[in-house]
Amino acid sequence: MFIPIILSALVAAPAVWSHPGLTPRAVPQVVYGCQNANQIAMTFDDGPYIYLRQISDAFTAANASATFFMNGNNWACVYDPARVSDVQHAFKAGHMIGSHTWGHTDLTANNLTSDQMNDQLYRMELAFSRMLGVKPAFMRPPYGNYNDDVLSVMSSRGQSAAMWDTDTGDADGNNVTTSEGVYDQVANANLPNALILEHETEKTTAEQLVPYAINLFQSKGYKLVTLADCIGAQPYQAVGVAQQRDASPTSSARDFIMLIFVL
Ligand SMILES: *[C@@H]1O[C@H](CO)[C@@H](O)[C@H](O)[C@H]1NC(C)=O
Ligand SMILES: *[C@@H]1O[C@H](CO)[C@@H](O)[C@H](O)[C@H]1NC(C)=O
Ligand SMILES: *[C@@H]1O[C@H](CO)[C@@H](O)[C@H](O)[C@H]1NC(C)=O
Ligand SMILES: [Zn+2]
Repeated sequence: MFIPIILSALVAAPAVWSHPGLTPRAVPQVVYGCQNANQIAMTFDDGPYIYLRQISDAFTAANASATFFMNGNNWACVYDPARVSDVQHAFKAGHMIGSHTWGHTDLTANNLTSDQMNDQLYRMELAFSRMLGVKPAFMRPPYGNYNDDVLSVMSSRGQSAAMWDTDTGDADGNNVTTSEGVYDQVANANLPNALILEHETEKTTAEQLVPYAINLFQSKGYKLVTLADCIGAQPYQAVGVAQQRDASPTSSARDFIMLIFVL
């Protein structure tokens, strides 16, 4: 019974990619920082989780943009109705959505096969296709770990690796004062730009770091933009239409099983 449902979802997927108007990108395959002056890109990993909407709304209210690198199955399942709603909310507000792999897998683990690596990226492409109608152009490798094999798989899927040049350490045990000090250093050094790592999954990040950083950087005259904006690139390889939620996809192995049926 569920096989035809899933097949129809997959068969419908190519329509999402068939929209014209794609701009060829000339983006380095690994991005370490912003290029545009006076711009700061704040990036939030490991969601979607319960703070996505709050962070998204804080940036929107400040006429600013943020970037979220998401997992399919990490702190929450990306297909939970509440998470889908929040992801669509942030996307519609103009914030950038990128991949962080399905399961927050270290892609350089030496027991990972090429098929497993592709599956980690494919499942996020499928999720974003269903929820948002987009195909991501950027992937942040979990733990910042990548090698030539990882870059080869990413390249074949049209995705650039998004690293960072500034780390708040918000998920590494830094307290709020220390993380705020990281923002202070960027602002006080009058750096031309910064590509900053945060995590959506930290309550103190949502409640304290985000308001602090927005206020600090805007008062210093920086513009808070998406990662794509700060390097003059497109955030997505393709933009189409989201699918209606019908077959209740879950974070189980179901998608993978379906793929096997199709292949
Ligand atoms: C919001 O940002 C846009 C783009 O930078 C700018 O054109 C607009 O004036 C800003 N609006 C407000 C209310 O600050
Ligand atoms: C690879 O090895 C690690 C550590 O031994 C293990 O946790 C992980 O599940 C393995 N991954 C795969 C895909 O077999
Ligand atoms: C925050 O962490 C720093 C570095 O470990 C420490 O020196 C400082 O006392 C801490 N501040 C608070 C408020 O806990
Ligand atoms: Zn992560």
